[in-house]
Amino acid sequence: MASSVAPAVTFFFFSSLALCLGFSAAQQVPAMYVFGDSLVDVGNNNYLKVSLAKADFPHNGVDYPGGKPTGRFSNGKNAADFLGISIKLDTNSLCLCIVLSDLMTCLAAEKVGIPTSPPYLSMVSKAKSNKRTASFVAGVSFASGGAGIFNGTDERYRQSLTLTQQAGYYSTVYESLVQQLGTGAAHEHLAKSVFAIVIGSNDILGYFKAGSKSNLPKEGTPQQFVDSMISTFRQLLKKLHGLGARKYVITGIGAVGCCPSQRKQNKTGDCNEEANFWATKYNEGLKSMLQGLKSELKDINYSYLDTYSIFHDFIQNPATYGFTELKAACCGLGNLNADVPCIPISTYCSNRNDHLFWDLYHPTEKAARIMVDTVFNGSNVKDLIAA
Ligand SMILES: *[C@@H]1O[C@H](CO)[C@@H](O)[C@H](O)[C@H]1NC(C)=O
Ligand SMILES: *[C@@H]1O[C@H](CO)[C@@H](O)[C@H](O)[C@H]1NC(C)=O
Ligand SMILES: *[C@@H]1O[C@H](CO)[C@@H](O)[C@H](O)[C@H]1NC(C)=O
Ligand SMILES: *[C@@H]1O[C@H](CO)[C@@H](O)[C@H](O)[C@H]1NC(C)=O
Repeated sequence: MASSVAPAVTFFFFSSLALCLGFSAAQQVPAMYVFGDSLVDVGNNNYLKVSLAKADFPHNGVDYPGGKPTGRFSNGKNAADFLGISIKLDTNSLCLCIVLSDLMTCLAAEKVGIPTSPPYLSMVSKAKSNKRTASFVAGVSFASGGAGIFNGTDERYRQSLTLTQQAGYYSTVYESLVQQLGTGAAHEHLAKSVFAIVIGSNDILGYFKAGSKSNLPKEGTPQQFVDSMISTFRQLLKKLHGLGARKYVITGIGAVGCCPSQRKQNKTGDCNEEANFWATKYNEGLKSMLQGLKSELKDINYSYLDTYSIFHDFIQNPATYGFTELKAACCGLGNLNADVPCIPISTYCSNRNDHLFWDLYHPTEKAARIMVDTVFNGSNVKDLIAA
């Protein structure tokens, strides 16, 4: 079978390569700089020795090209990959990928010409072993499983790159771009680049975790906690702005109370409505913070991606998306497969396209793909890129 499909695959592969390269000159987004948590970690945590938030072992990656674990908390690709594809495709609208509107062909194109921003720690490590300096002109990802807006959020995972650390690494990247391109060109480059940030779920989950001893500002009310998340995030965005960032793609928090780890704490297997409620409160606050920031800084543009609504729709109308299992994780052990995370001794399901969740916290590749596609359609990212 492989030999009979090979010529066709090869043909499409090369023709899409040619077309994508042909139009890449017109690409308006030169790079994507990614910040965030395990929803978009593409391998930074593989380099953190004592972190408990790791996915560089089976059965993660069973559906990733090659079937290997990469550090993504997913059976395949994650939201960072799909965000990359969507942003690049929007700027290459004549690319054959869209004409075929075939994900597999797009993935092939992605592998050759439009890659996901690579993990910062892998770039630094490779550059060191090759005795070269890393170039960050094509983008880089600082996202790290377990990370939150607050430093204390990752304590239960022992080690992650907190958002503060991610911003610290970005300032190193900024210096390196200035050295490489000169100040003017570096600023021009960064002003066209997209800064994608997916963060906050771990802070909310940490706040509502019973008996959690993490070093979080938990003494206040949930409203104060959420307000503090937003003001801390605001400071971070201003810091990135001071280092050349102008175009932001920022996601809200999804229905975190519905992930298997939360459902299993409810006898009826229902969602933790309190966590969901405060996730929506955070999202409302985030939206108005972004509006305020734009009127203060004037020279920024942003897209807010409403992941909560699509998540909610998955649960309300699962048949529309072909989901039949909303509660249990695909990979894990115990109640809702959420007593044990997705580790090598865990079992995993064969019908992964029927499942909303891959493991106790993270969506399946299919859910991540639909989520990104849908929030893209409902957003102004196209205008953001064109601006
Ligand atoms: C995190 O810790 C660093 C170093 O102690 C500190 O500079 C930073 O302000 C802290 N960030 C937050 C969000 O508390
Ligand atoms: C369990 O789910 C039910 C139904 O949504 C809800 O009323 C109840 O508050 C939940 N319990 C907890 C502990 O979240
Ligand atoms: C923001 O986007 C609008 C169009 O949506 C554009 O007119 C404006 O110039 C952009 N501002 C910046 C600072 O890029
Ligand atoms: C997004 O919009 C395009 C064009 O309007 C449509 O073809 C596609 O099905 C939409 N995708 C989703 C996930 O809504």
